[in-house]
Amino acid sequence: MKNVLIIGSTGQIGSELTLELRKRYNGNIVAGYIPGAEPKGELLESGPAEVVDITNEQQIAEVVSKYKIDTIYNLAALLSAVAEIKPQLAWKIGMDGLFNVLEVAREHHCAVFTPSSIGVFGNNTPKDKTPQDTIRNPRTMYGVTKVGGELLSDYYYIRFGVDTRSVRFPGLISYIAPPGGGTTDYAVDIYYEAVKGNKFVCPIAAGTFMDMMYMPDALHAAIQLMEADPTRLVHRNAFNIASMSFDPEIIFNNIKKYVPEFTMEYAVDSLRQSIAESWPNSLDDTCARIEWDWKPTYDLDTMTKDMLSKLKSRNLK
Ligand SMILES: NC(=O)c1ccc[n+]([C@@H]2O[C@H](COP(=O)([O-])OP(=O)(O)OC[C@H]3O[C@@H](n4cnc5c(N)ncnc54)[C@H](O)[C@@H]3O)[C@@H](O)[C@H]2O)c1
Repeated sequence: MKNVLIIGSTGQIGSELTLELRKRYNGNIVAGYIPGAEPKGELLESGPAEVVDITNEQQIAEVVSKYKIDTIYNLAALLSAVAEIKPQLAWKIGMDGLFNVLEVAREHHCAVFTPSSIGVFGNNTPKDKTPQDTIRNPRTMYGVTKVGGELLSDYYYIRFGVDTRSVRFPGLISYIAPPGGGTTDYAVDIYYEAVKGNKFVCPIAAGTFMDMMYMPDALHAAIQLMEADPTRLVHRNAFNIASMSFDPEIIFNNIKKYVPEFTMEYAVDSLRQSIAESWPNSLDDTCARIEWDWKPTYDLDTMTKDMLSKLKSRNLK
């Protein structure tokens, strides 16, 4: 039996990860949320839910004790574009919040998964096939908290034996919960506009390549890494994982294959564009493949077909 707490369970990743964990494990899979972001529908009805504000260590500890939690998926964060607007709050959630989670995990012997991001990289990082172990010098608060989070998580493993593991997620594409204000959100929005029959106004310039991944592969990565044999792990926080890399023109043309009347124009958002340009074009995920058998199943075309069919079945207005 596994007892899992998901902090930030109602966001883009959590709303799907929580349900996936409930399908796989028969213990308490607790959806942690903050007031104003309550779970709804299946997420609310299929298991326990508790208020867990990551900035409140005692609240985390109480829920961990109540449900005998052994694993924490810590998904609370402000995403890259929002974090640039509220850098102080991004630090409070990303760093102070992570510290609270790690302290509770140390005292209660929990494993911890805290997603990192391609945002750990910066302008001095090799851009193509970015290696696992390379320069991490972001100039965004999001990136600063992600690098700090990787280092702090490794510290808790080395110093206290807390079982911390993580991946650097690329931009995630999904059709259930909307993205939370990241630089790669355009690659989700473009599908919604195509299905609604609208013109898409793209905030990222043509020729800007970023790594992306379809949500089913991202969920699989998180769970597979947490279940991996620890004796094989050379790295911990955090693994590069990759499945596809494209620019706006490539994803637009792929969608147009299935929605021929679809059109797109550009209105580049300077904040998102500058963040996008500081991130890699593509990642080398060899270490994840060797150390825990990571392998994605979706490419751009199979993702596009699935996204379009799932969104069409929702009769979007
Ligand atoms: N979605 C992506 O494309 C992507 C890519 C790379 C990394 N990540 C990382 O994955 C994690 C989850 O991302 P997401 O896309 O689901 O984000 P999201 O913005 O959709 O969800 C974040 C969740 O955190 C919650 N939250 C905010 N403040 C909180 C607080 N004080 N205490 C507890 N919860 C709080 C929000 O209510 C929300 O449910 C984050 O660490 C993010 O940086 C996401």
